[in-house]
Amino acid sequence: MTQDTLVLIKPDGVARNLIGVILARIEAKGYVIVDLRMLTPDRALLGAHYAEHLGKPFFDPLLDFMSSGPVVAARVRGHRVIEGFRALAGATDPTTAAPGSIRGDLGRDWGERVQKNLVHGSDSPASAERELGLWFGGTV
Ligand code: RTP
Ligand code: MG
Repeated sequence: MTQDTLVLIKPDGVARNLIGVILARIEAKGYVIVDLRMLTPDRALLGAHYAEHLGKPFFDPLLDFMSSGPVVAARVRGHRVIEGFRALAGATDPTTAAPGSIRGDLGRDWGERVQKNLVHGSDSPASAERELGLWFGGTV
């Protein structure tokens, strides 16, 4: 059941110089980074990536945030890595994300219209395949 997942280090993680710390946690867990790129995503890519959230109150702030600066996209590989990276990342809300997780240890609420929570991880095999196509397949 070796899988690939898409991990994004969001603009807050890059701006706070946490690229190395976050990638080190992924590697220390035993997962393998098999592809890596840095880019400032445009709204077309982000709209496709976050299509499930279209119409929600945080959608526009989310796209503003995610297009505000460079992100790091990683293809990460391992047995059950989709589930495993979601556990490493922690809950969406960094205030209540468990200590020990990336969001719980390194994130906080900044009182803004969208939660800046450092990382994204695909939430299912279907999401991973779709998202890896967007970020590494050149389909947008
Ligand atoms: P992600 O997709 O980025 O891995 O995060 P997630 O599954 O944990 O959370 P999701 O529900 O998919 O939401 C996507 C991202 O939108 C921002 N968000 N802010 N109420 C809020 O302020 C709010 N709700 C969602 C977060 O950046 C979240 O990760
Ligand atoms: Mg999500």
